[in-house]
Amino acid sequence: MRTKPRVFVARLIPEKALRIIEEYCDTEVWTDELPPPRTVLLEKAASVDGLLTLLTDKVDSELLSGAPRLRVVSNMAVGYDNVDVTEATRRGVLVTNTPGVLTETTADLAFALLLAAARRVVEGDSCTRSGKWKTWGPMTLLGQDVHDATLGLIGLGRIGWEMAKRAKGFSMRVIYYDVQRRPDLELEAGLEYADFDTVLREADFVSVHAPLSEDTYHLMGEREFALMKSTAVFVNSSRGPIVNQKALYKALSSGRIFAAGIDVTDPEPIAADDPLLTLNNIVITPHIASASVATRTKMAVLAAENLVAALSGGRPKYLVNPEVLAH
Ligand code: DGY
Repeated sequence: MRTKPRVFVARLIPEKALRIIEEYCDTEVWTDELPPPRTVLLEKAASVDGLLTLLTDKVDSELLSGAPRLRVVSNMAVGYDNVDVTEATRRGVLVTNTPGVLTETTADLAFALLLAAARRVVEGDSCTRSGKWKTWGPMTLLGQDVHDATLGLIGLGRIGWEMAKRAKGFSMRVIYYDVQRRPDLELEAGLEYADFDTVLREADFVSVHAPLSEDTYHLMGEREFALMKSTAVFVNSSRGPIVNQKALYKALSSGRIFAAGIDVTDPEPIAADDPLLTLNNIVITPHIASASVATRTKMAVLAAENLVAALSGGRPKYLVNPEVLAH
């Protein structure tokens, strides 16, 4: 009898996805709320054919070198900066991700952060709850208008594009910077291309939609925040290390920029004593941009399908390193 491939699933995922994996694989699931400790992940990786990982699981050369059977790392995220893809490719290990299915949900949250930071929604809520709401005040909790303002996108991939569409519903002017210019999208929605510094200077809202890489590490630092308008709002739903957090604190606490809304921090979770947590003009959510019931189910199903396709000799739908199959 043919033995089933062995896989380790690094967290409890929706049942629908788990069934897809269990049907084809001998499956072990890590059911704790917290990720498997490093030693456990290394130990499991050492004896499996496939791993289903999350962005909290570091798949580096140490792990890969100790995993002789490993054929696939299926990452349940669009981002895969937790995986050393170069090393995986060198070792013939397929790496897959889950783009597409989380695009709109992520843009919804990024836009929610934009609105919340601009209109001081969280401050307003705590004012109400703490009994500080005494009257209708002509100068109380004044924010920035979103409608008719300029949105500056850093990155016009799938999620950036969805942000642009949402912004158009608010009659916003949308400018963008990306390493790859998109004349087709410029035409379709009236977007304007500008260089990085111009986007920072002209935008009322700067929203980052770029992957984390050596090139984007600390892309937003003191110089960049200094270029922004003092009334501007900064939004980040991509990856925490794209922002120099100390510089963000300085920009917010000095009034250099008006406010920020971020879903990602460095590290995650944010340190309990991080000075950002002392500020009122920032909204921080715990990396939940893709966290809707429907989207997390779609992500898990896609990750499961990618995993099973790779282990059954097929071509996974979303393969990060197709060069492995070419060999
Ligand atoms: C991703 O998929 O990369 C997000 O950060 C989590 O949904």
